[in-house]
Amino acid sequence: MQPVITLWRAGDVPRLWLDQIAAWFLHEFHWPMAHTAPADWRVLATIGGDLIGHLSITERAATAGGAPVALAGIGAVIVQPGWRGRGVGRALLARAEAAMREETAADFGLLICEAHRLTFYTALGWQPVPGPLFFTSWRGERQQAGQHVLVLPLREGLTWPPGEIDLCGLPW
Ligand SMILES: CC(C)(COP(=O)(O)OP(=O)(O)OC[C@H]1O[C@@H](n2cnc3c(N)ncnc32)[C@H](O)[C@@H]1OP(=O)(O)O)[C@@H](O)C(=O)NCCC(=O)NCCS
Repeated sequence: MQPVITLWRAGDVPRLWLDQIAAWFLHEFHWPMAHTAPADWRVLATIGGDLIGHLSITERAATAGGAPVALAGIGAVIVQPGWRGRGVGRALLARAEAAMREETAADFGLLICEAHRLTFYTALGWQPVPGPLFFTSWRGERQQAGQHVLVLPLREGLTWPPGEIDLCGLPW
């Protein structure tokens, strides 16, 4: 059986799956998903009705180098351990890319990742940018992200503005 990849409006995702995703998030990233920005869209991978993979898409008016930039933030990219290495992650990102282009007004996708995930994303067309990147924590404090920042231009001819990035809100 092949995994099925589907795009959901965030509000339509069943509670049971949201609870599963939150548990995966805590396990993988060691902080609560409740401290991240509410998603607008979710891409789910299911097999026989069971959830095996997920990512979130959050639209955000942010700034880069002081200029406004319309973002679609990709977060909580997780494939269940037994399903890794079979193309599910790549399929989730491909569906998300189509959704960002077709369903959002964003000019760039943006995600934050650890160094050991850089090759996974750059192979899918994501481009590292220097940042630094700041966000507002759930406590309302301005914080700098310690990880790598990657962007994906969603329209022709767009160049990422250099300089400090401010997500102007919660991270994803
Ligand atoms: C990252 C993750 C989502 C990848 O999912 P996946 O289904 O295993 O990925 P895929 O099978 O689609 O891999 C796609 C390609 O990336 C490669 N790849 C996957 N993980 C990689 C890694 N850590 N480093 C380098 N390449 C990697 C695969 O070999 C594959 O390349 P290929 O097409 O040449 O064979 C999965 O490992 C995961 O859930 N990790 C834990 C949570 C996490 O760290 N998420 C990312 C947060 S930014």
